[in-house]
Amino acid sequence: MAGRSRNGSDTDCLVIGSGAAGALYAYRAARAGLSVTLVTGAGALASGNSTYAQGGIVFEDQDAQSLRDDMAVATAGTTNPAALETLLEHGPRVVRDILVGELEVAFDRGADGGLRFTREGSHSRERIVFAKDQTGRAIVDAVHRRLTEMAADADAPGQVRILTGTVAIDLLTLSHSSTEPLDRYHPLTCVGAYVLDTASGEVTALRARRTVLATGGLGQIFLHSTNHPNTFGHGIAMAYRVGARVMDLEYVQFHPTVFLHPGAAPFLVSEALRGEGAVLVNGAGDRFMDRFHELGSLAPRDIIARSIHAELLKSDDTTVFLDATGLDRDYLLERFPTISARLREAGVDLSVEPIPVVPAAHYSCGGVHADMQGRTNVDRLSAIGEVACTGLHGANRLASTSLLECVVMADLAAATHAKELREVGPPMPEVRPWVMADRLPDEDLVTQDINVIRNTMWNYVGLVRTTRRLERATSLLYELKAEVDSFYAGNQLTRSLLNLRSAVQTALLVTYAALHNPRSEGCHFRTDDET
Ligand code: FAD
Ligand code: SIN
Repeated sequence: MAGRSRNGSDTDCLVIGSGAAGALYAYRAARAGLSVTLVTGAGALASGNSTYAQGGIVFEDQDAQSLRDDMAVATAGTTNPAALETLLEHGPRVVRDILVGELEVAFDRGADGGLRFTREGSHSRERIVFAKDQTGRAIVDAVHRRLTEMAADADAPGQVRILTGTVAIDLLTLSHSSTEPLDRYHPLTCVGAYVLDTASGEVTALRARRTVLATGGLGQIFLHSTNHPNTFGHGIAMAYRVGARVMDLEYVQFHPTVFLHPGAAPFLVSEALRGEGAVLVNGAGDRFMDRFHELGSLAPRDIIARSIHAELLKSDDTTVFLDATGLDRDYLLERFPTISARLREAGVDLSVEPIPVVPAAHYSCGGVHADMQGRTNVDRLSAIGEVACTGLHGANRLASTSLLECVVMADLAAATHAKELREVGPPMPEVRPWVMADRLPDEDLVTQDINVIRNTMWNYVGLVRTTRRLERATSLLYELKAEVDSFYAGNQLTRSLLNLRSAVQTALLVTYAALHNPRSEGCHFRTDDET
């Protein structure tokens, strides 16, 4: 029997994604009295790259000019000044008043009770606050705790409804989804999303006065990535399908230091380790970064990742090494407990031997074009956090500015919506029911197709790009997209099928952007640069 969707109850704000951006938005919007439905495809609120974030979050309330200067160096002068100024204006307030003050995030503190600060690559001073080596987890745990309390509290100012195991499939718009044919003549307007309950297989149309995409990045479209398993660019693909502007997608940042060791699962080794004094060396023990950049092991990430690539090509080595042996053992264990424990499990003691590392896809500087309030070119659709592209990160992001962008955008978007939604809006349109095919997808085929995408992106759209490689990727991905589209139409929806559909669309967008930008800049590096 073919399944049909039902209409879920309406809400002021539908938030898709419960990472740092989505969760903080939900908290702020509900505090302002709005009704909020927060959905995440994961089985629990704690999900996405936010739970993986290690190094920290920038808290610069002393010397804004030094941060401007460091942003200029890291992004090679490509940061969007309007986004940067908004971040400088609101960042200190959001960290101090909301994260530290209201939510009591467990940032590390010194003996005097004050916040501890560290630095990472391209930062000229210690301005990053952290919670050991699990900063993202500490932030989202604090917000999720508060949200869960609000969801259970009938007297809370706004209503919070939390739906886990709920994957957004497509955005609802007046033009695409309304049963009223004349609605298509209105400006492009988002009115919610179709969502799949992964437990029951049921699809629901959730209508909302504001829809907030907070679905994170796209790292898993690459074979080697630091990202959370389901990070396939869902939000970018969904927004693109309804006509949202996407931009800067060629700027995929590769993190230079991902642990790679036979028999052990790869994971990120924080740049904060270099901030505390660890250095990159090659197999011969040479501090090779000193040959590539005046900042040595603390050079911008794009430069380090490419330097590692060049260094490995010159040798038979498969990794370079992060050498923390010059640092005090007790300090390392106290400061980086999770990283040192994971390394120990893999048989590596970071205080006595260098850590084998390679670059891997880490962060999408591009995404759905938005201003710092999250506004997109689609009416009533916002994008916040990593799914958005405000231009803040330009062609290469500065470390520990992503979590800050997430929370600043979340706060500003919630405040904007609280003001806008004081007015009673137009009635919600009736939306077309979702009609689901009844055939179960071949999960092995889905897995193989995802592997093809990840290998294609790694081999042809990776750290070093050429026209020929990008053209090869384009033709492979176009062919696969045609297959996936027909496969998708004839099968029941599952989480993995939705991952595949988003992955192929996002991979094509990244490849298209890379192919059509002939200029090497930041993370986008072409050996056949035509400029
Ligand atoms: P995420 O935290 O990725 O959350 C996305 C949410 O969307 C999840 O809940 C997911 O389940 C949900 N979702 C996705 N698609 C759908 C869908 N279709 N339907 C429903 N739900 C969906 N940045 C820093 O500033 N400092 C750091 O120290 C730092 N360290 C990092 C370390 C690692 C290993 C990684 C991978 C990243 C790091 N970053 C760091 C980057 C930063 O963590 C991310 O950019 C940021 O956390 C993104 O937050 P987000 O809320 O936008 O998305
Ligand atoms: C890290 O801890 O190295 C990651 C920091 C970031 O991506 O901002």
